[in-house]
Amino acid sequence: MLEEKIMKKYFDQCVERSLMVEFEPEEKEGVGKLLSRWQIKADDKILEPGCGSGRLTKVTAKQIGSQGEILGMDLSEGMIGRAKLHRLPNNIEFRVGTVRAIPKPEEWFDKIICFNVFPHFADLVKIFSEFARVLKSGGELWINHLKSREKINSFHERLGPEVNKHSIPENEEVIKMIAGAGFEIMIFENNENGYCVKAIRVRNLSN
Ligand SMILES: C[S@@+](CC[C@H](N)C(=O)[O-])C[C@H]1O[C@@H](n2cnc3c(N)ncnc32)[C@H](O)[C@@H]1O
Repeated sequence: MLEEKIMKKYFDQCVERSLMVEFEPEEKEGVGKLLSRWQIKADDKILEPGCGSGRLTKVTAKQIGSQGEILGMDLSEGMIGRAKLHRLPNNIEFRVGTVRAIPKPEEWFDKIICFNVFPHFADLVKIFSEFARVLKSGGELWINHLKSREKINSFHERLGPEVNKHSIPENEEVIKMIAGAGFEIMIFENNENGYCVKAIRVRNLSN
C-alpha cells in the first residue's frame, strides 16, 4: 500500500535521527498514568500496533510474566531494529509489518494498545476489523495520546508532507467506526490530559 510505503520511509528516517527512541521527561508522567488505566495482568497477551522503537514496550514488558506475551508491530524496519536492541525476553516479540494483517489466530489477544499511532492508520475499516478478529471476547482496545485530538492534529499539520494530513477523525466518526467493527465504547475522552478511547470487543451469536 503506497501510503504505508511512504510512511515507512518517513519513520525509518525518524529513527535514524534518534527521534521517538526515549520518552521526554514530561511524557513519563503521562505514560505512568496510562499504565494504571491499562491494568496489565501478568498473563495478558498484548498487541502493540505501531510500537516504533519499543520505548513503551520495554515499560509494559515489566508488567507481564512469562505466561504473558507482547507482539509489537511496526511498518518501519529501522524502528523494529531499534526495538530489538532492548533485548527483551522471548515472550516479547517485535515484527516488521502492517496491522492490516496481524499474524495471529482469532481471539488471541486480551488487549490492543494503540499508543501514538491512531492518526497514522491507513485503511481504518480494515484495521479495526483485524483488531476485532484477534481480540478475545471482552478484550480491550485502547487508543491513547498524551495530548488532545486538536493538539495532535495541529502538530501533524506542521510535519513533512508524508504525514501532515494524518489526523484523528471527528469524535462521532471514531465512535461510529469502532462500534461498527464490533466494539462497545467504555471510555471516550478528549481533553487537556490527552485522548483516550477504551472499547471492549463484544461478540454475538452471529460473529
Ligand atoms: C508516531 S510513531 C509512534 C511509535 C510508538 N508508538 C511510540 O510512541 O514511540 C507511529 C508508528 O506507527 C507505525 N505505523 C503506522 N501505521 C502502521 C500500521 N498500519 N501497522 C504497523 N505500524 C504502523 C509507524 O511506522 C510509526 O513507527
